[in-house]
Amino acid sequence: MLAVGLQGSPRKGGNNSHTLSLFLSHLKEKGFQTETLHLSQMDFSFCIGCGSCEKTGWCILKDEFASVIAPMLRRAEIVVLASPVYFYGPSAQLKAMMDRGQMFWSRKYRLKLSDPLKKRRRGYVLSSAATSGQDLFSAIILNSRYFFDAIDAAYSGALTFREAEAKGALAARSDTQPRVASAADVVAGPLLPVKHRILFVCSDGAIKSRMAWAAASAITPGTFQFGHAGLAPQETFKTKCDAWMEKKKTDIRYAPVLSLKETLETTSPDIIVDMDGCLSKTPEVTPHITWDLPPTPPESDEEAISLMRAVESRVKKLLGTLNSNASS
Ligand SMILES: Cc1cc2nc3c(=O)[nH]c(=O)nc-3n(C[C@H](O)[C@H](O)[C@H](O)COP(=O)(O)O)c2cc1C
Repeated sequence: MLAVGLQGSPRKGGNNSHTLSLFLSHLKEKGFQTETLHLSQMDFSFCIGCGSCEKTGWCILKDEFASVIAPMLRRAEIVVLASPVYFYGPSAQLKAMMDRGQMFWSRKYRLKLSDPLKKRRRGYVLSSAATSGQDLFSAIILNSRYFFDAIDAAYSGALTFREAEAKGALAARSDTQPRVASAADVVAGPLLPVKHRILFVCSDGAIKSRMAWAAASAITPGTFQFGHAGLAPQETFKTKCDAWMEKKKTDIRYAPVLSLKETLETTSPDIIVDMDGCLSKTPEVTPHITWDLPPTPPESDEEAISLMRAVESRVKKLLGTLNSNASS
């Protein structure tokens, strides 16, 4: 479970830096992996409105939005935007980042691709301002809501602070920490407590396990967490698999190819599904469930489609059983 905070203030150690760090620390205590991106220290350009992403689904600008921010937005289940009010709107850094999100808008609305995490991802806003005007946060919240829609994050609210001008203004208030912590609890609520951590493992790691991850994530509530890994992950199969999944309008370009070893270093699954019997050669990892899907990659589009169907039907059956066990 990844929670990403995008810190839009250029002021180091300022109010939004402070509230975002409290928010993410609280989520970390609840078991989230957390990442903070300080936008003013990152190297990314403004959107140039070229329209390329509307045709291809990709941004032509190759910078840290493409290499760092976009993958994190896609992998996160919680996205927090933090920004000071600048002239009744978000900081330029945050707005520039939002504009680059047009790529995700295009993938969703032009190419009609569906993100497997779309029913789980949640978006939240933190903001502060010096004065006490009634409409101070209206623009930030409206911008954020449209951005969250583009990245498939359900808007889950905003915590705003008025009359906070000086750098340490919010750090000095005794109610800041409890307010931020209860906001973080609200956002994380639908993802906790985690009922199952299920890891799908297959021989190649780039095809079946990523298909299973996508199918499972798309149909199950956030309290079930899914991982995917391969015994000998092969990057070469990734592009093919991504293209097959896109035929079904499922967007898994940002699901990385992971090895079993690195996955087990960061997660502790309670259910390991061996999708093709590959773990029979790995005595140190014992699967809880073994499927009999073909160990070799599909050789044609037809074979890939039938594999996708077979994966989906097994995933649905497994989750149906786990859900009925959980509710009985
Ligand atoms: C360029 C600039 C524009 C600002 N515009 C507003 C504004 O329109 N209304 C307001 O109440 N505060 C405004 N402020 C004050 C900041 O929103 C406020 O100090 C905020 O808490 C700073 O957060 P930070 O410490 O995270 O940077 C502005 C500050 C700057 C530097």
